[in-house]
Amino acid sequence: MIPRDFIDTLLSRVDIVDVIDRRVPLKKAGQNYQACCPFHSEKTPSFTVSPSKQFYHCFGCGAHGTALGFLMEYEHMSFPDSVAALAEDAGLPMPESSLEPERPKPPPALWDALEQAARFYKQQLKQAPHAIDYLKQRGLSGAIAARYGIGYAPDGSPLKRVFADYDAEALAASGLVVDNEGRRYDRFRDRIMFPIRNVKGQIVGFGGRVLGQGEPKYLNSPETPLFHKGSEIYGLFEARAAIKRAARVVVVEGYMDVVALAQHGVEFAVATLGTATTPVHARTLLRHSDRLVYAFDGDAAGRKAAWRALENSLEALQDGKEVSFLFLPEGEDPDSYIRDHGCDAFLRLLDNETLPLSAFLMRELARGRRLDTQEGQATLLKDAKPLLEKIGAPLLARLIQRQIAELTQLQVGDLSAMGLRPVASRPLPPRQQRRIAPSRLRGLARILLMNPQRASEVEPLWFDARDPLHATAGELIAWLREVGPLRLHTLAEAAKGSGMEDFVNELMVDLLDKDDTWDWNAEFEGAVQQLRDDWRRRRVQELAARPLASLSVEERRELGDLARS
Ligand code: UTP
Ligand code: MN
Repeated sequence: MIPRDFIDTLLSRVDIVDVIDRRVPLKKAGQNYQACCPFHSEKTPSFTVSPSKQFYHCFGCGAHGTALGFLMEYEHMSFPDSVAALAEDAGLPMPESSLEPERPKPPPALWDALEQAARFYKQQLKQAPHAIDYLKQRGLSGAIAARYGIGYAPDGSPLKRVFADYDAEALAASGLVVDNEGRRYDRFRDRIMFPIRNVKGQIVGFGGRVLGQGEPKYLNSPETPLFHKGSEIYGLFEARAAIKRAARVVVVEGYMDVVALAQHGVEFAVATLGTATTPVHARTLLRHSDRLVYAFDGDAAGRKAAWRALENSLEALQDGKEVSFLFLPEGEDPDSYIRDHGCDAFLRLLDNETLPLSAFLMRELARGRRLDTQEGQATLLKDAKPLLEKIGAPLLARLIQRQIAELTQLQVGDLSAMGLRPVASRPLPPRQQRRIAPSRLRGLARILLMNPQRASEVEPLWFDARDPLHATAGELIAWLREVGPLRLHTLAEAAKGSGMEDFVNELMVDLLDKDDTWDWNAEFEGAVQQLRDDWRRRRVQELAARPLASLSVEERRELGDLARS
């Protein structure tokens, strides 16, 4: 792990304008610099670099980040490699703790244990002809194996040789070993190893495949503090640049599918990890791309998996984003398909054979029903209702409602009479009399990004959790308090992969337009005061609405204090 304060120092030593200009020549435009965006094709420049914020942003494709982020994206380098490259440019020696260990040393943290194991597995692959043969026979080249960091875990408990302290807590906590009846052994034995990286490129777990036949076919890391199957996406780190280039992302079911597609030139594929697609997956993927294609097998199991993916994508939908489904011919998976038919054939399927989410939804709702009977229509409506209510994209939801109305020969008006509310008029939480304006709240959040030490002056409690912007701002405060006062560009780096990434990036974009004479002090004080006053008023109302007898001693005291202040 590279210490965060080193990255902070590093980013303050390099100038992003310089770093980018050496790769993409920039032109001065007002306070900022501009160029045609290197991450999407365009004729007029919308790629902007701010020297004062040390941040870049493309108004065309949304690419953005710090000098480090730029290197990772532009040079396709991992996080540690980008840090090392920047450090070399800046003439800063890398800190001790991030240097490659020469010999086994006591495992410090979980991250290190996983990185060390991955290096070991990779190096073991070179010495395991039967494992190399297996990968070759599956059509994989050395280059692709290297790109995905594929390795081999020998039989026995070879990690004993890697870690001087094999009994260390970190080994169990990272999922590398299993403790059973007082004995400890390696979890992964005689398996092809697929490291699973988070969006920052750090290894969080592994999937291990048996060579040939055997049970289980794939063994995955257990849930650990670093690894959550429900939110990690295999191959996303490796695919990021390709996803941007192709302006789409394909989600497949297996490790091998991802790797085989990349082998044949389709580098924008990722996979969930042997679990159904979750809402978190869908949201993350739709953040990376506006077009998302789920590619499943054409059999009943594939259709079932697709339906789960649909259900769990509804909340993440936004108008302007496209989710669709590709069903491969029976008996094929993306790996076998692209091996047999080639890249062009697979791309043709993606272009011509995908079913938009709305069509898939309608098809499945109508499947097996007698829509010419009122009973059939009623069950369709009943099944459609919870789905429609989840859709996060109001326009799309309207269109689907209209389709359902047509199918059931109802008027859209009748739908609402039956309890199917038009999405746009779904009841919002009761509005407060007075609530801080969204722009003022965002202003406050922006100021805090530039002055994170002042987060201690704002109580997360003051935000009204029923309002999404409030809730996010409250989370930001809690997060800022947790990561501590860092400089702006380090904060942006730290936000990567955390729940705060989107919000922080949005705020950074706003900051690009602020000039340096902006009086944030007054803005800050005013916003804080209003927040606190609003909260007091809400809290008094809330406590006063309850029977006095139900209030605890503390609550009564609080009510008294609030009433006096
Ligand atoms: P599949 O059984 O479809 O395997 O599992 P596959 O991807 O085609 O693999 P190959 O081609 O036989 O090597 C799809 C995914 O389900 C999870 C894994 O993530 C796998 O990639 N899985 C499958 C497990 O976690 N454990 C298993 O035993 C099997
Ligand atoms: Mn397969």
